[in-house]
Amino acid sequence: MKTALITGISGQDGSYLAELLLRHQGYGNVIGLTRRKSNPDTVNLKELVDHPSTLLVEGDLEDGGFLSQLFSIYKIDECYNLAAQSFVAYSFKNPIGTLMANTLGTMNLLEAIRHHSPETRFFQASTSEMYGGFHNDPMSEKHDFHPRSPYGTSKLAAYWHTVNMREAFGLFACNGILFNHESPRRGSDFVTQKIVRGAAAYKIWKDSGDGSEIPLLRLGNLEAKRDWGDARDFVRGMWLAIQKDSPGDYVLATGIARTVREFVEIAFRHSSIDTQITWEGEGEQEIGKDPEGRTVIAVDSQFYRPTEVNALLGDWTRAREELDWKPEISFDETVNDMVQAALERAG
Ligand code: NAP
Ligand code: GDD
Repeated sequence: MKTALITGISGQDGSYLAELLLRHQGYGNVIGLTRRKSNPDTVNLKELVDHPSTLLVEGDLEDGGFLSQLFSIYKIDECYNLAAQSFVAYSFKNPIGTLMANTLGTMNLLEAIRHHSPETRFFQASTSEMYGGFHNDPMSEKHDFHPRSPYGTSKLAAYWHTVNMREAFGLFACNGILFNHESPRRGSDFVTQKIVRGAAAYKIWKDSGDGSEIPLLRLGNLEAKRDWGDARDFVRGMWLAIQKDSPGDYVLATGIARTVREFVEIAFRHSSIDTQITWEGEGEQEIGKDPEGRTVIAVDSQFYRPTEVNALLGDWTRAREELDWKPEISFDETVNDMVQAALERAG
């Protein structure tokens, strides 16, 4: 039975991937890399902490010596590198920290594999942010990269390092070029989670009728377009990529893009919230109102980015043809699950 190492197991993708490997693919062991926290938040790890085949190991991707030790002690068949400073907006505030985790961290892992466990198969969570949003047609593995944030540049270096380790030393090292994917476990800073939690807070405020101040959802660029899929589909694509006979690089996407504005309208229209948003004003003055004319959403320039990726739309033909992968969870199901989870959390 196989042993997998998942970095970033406490994150959205890491926790779903661990559950997939243990529940559906019969892995003998999943080793999860976690960082020590003074107040551990194991909400994503609920099903994993007590699982007899899960081993949570405390450590940091920036600690190369520790990673080398890990690969010397355990026989690891597959390594999924999902750990990252993954928030694009924060990468402008902390570019060096972002590079340390995302680029140096990936290089540390690949060095540990190269020297201590060259048979380990390696999956790198690369990103559609590497494209920068300059292409009008759906982006495939053949399109050029032009990252627009320190996050994007850090991930691009890690992408090429992964390719180089494959070409130079014959490692089984593959990249998933992942377009945005969401779920109830999405981190609270990302726009979809912020929107569904805002919608849930509004609904609870409306139902309470207690005369308190209406919760205001502050957002940045409403026109940005993203190709939003579901994390539970994407972790299956990661697993399929590492099962191939030979390593490759694969776009995982849905081929449908929507604006942030559309996401807001859809989330608030959800049957549990049942609120039609209408818009007034323009740019930084724009607001969204509920049917009673109350301001529910305000555009706030603090959420604009110094350089924005305006639109991302993926072409996942290679993943379909070579991995037999396809997105199975519809956009509506993802939004539904996220809204329900946000309501439960807020309630
Ligand atoms: P996430 O929820 O933000 O999780 C990131 C994980 O990385 C967390 O477990 C975090 O640990 C861990 N981490 C961060 N820095 C670390 C370090 N220096 N050492 C060890 N662990 C560290 O991210 P996600 O949405 O699951 O995404 C998974 C991966 O896919 C990331 O690499 C992301 O960049 C990439 N990606 C995601 C998307 C998407 O739409 N979700 C799209 C393209 C690519 P803590 O819990 O301790 O913070
Ligand atoms: N976070 C956030 N908060 N984004 C906002 C807001 C807001 O209040 N208002 C508008 N946006 C816009 C951003 O400017 C961006 O264009 C879009 O919403 C999506 O932002 P995020 O949800 O933060 O995701 P991202 O696309 O920047 O990055 C995510 O996807 C990448 C793949 O394309 C992350 O998961 C990255 O780790 C991932 O690589």
